[in-house]
Amino acid sequence: MLYTQIGEASLQDLTKNFYQEVSKNPELRSLYPEDLDAAERRIYLFLVQVLGGPSTYSEERGHPRLRMRHMQWKIDSKMRSHWMNAMLHALDKVPLEQEVREELMQYFTQVANAMINHD
Ligand code: HEM
Repeated sequence: MLYTQIGEASLQDLTKNFYQEVSKNPELRSLYPEDLDAAERRIYLFLVQVLGGPSTYSEERGHPRLRMRHMQWKIDSKMRSHWMNAMLHALDKVPLEQEVREELMQYFTQVANAMINHD
């Protein structure tokens, strides 16, 4: 299970690094709320749940419905690339087994593509 292979500490590092990248990228940053710590907690709990850990995310937020939740932002392929680059940089800084890293990259790529809602 990816959740146990990665562990909570590395997932926390990943989401922390990700939001550091978001804060450095004005186009991406403009979409996010003022309070990045709260956003960091949401994606952290989501990843814990989706990778096989406790379902605290859904207890707090309900069904993820990610595509629907992302409709409020204009996400074209350029914005998707900003997001993916931020996540890949974040991932680079976390020591992980190559196999685990590749699975995460595949997962993020697939979901990020599915979030595109604009030409
Ligand atoms: C493709 C480009 C993407 C953009 C531009 C984008 C943008 C955003 C923004 C602006 C938020 C609001 C932050 C907050 O208040 O929580 C958000 C929330 C979120 N995003 Fe994304 N996102 C993208 C892709 C993804 C992907 C690939 C995933 C998962 C693998 C994801 C998972 C989430 C989750 C779990 C939340 C919190 C939802 C909630 O509980 O309200 N996003 N995203």
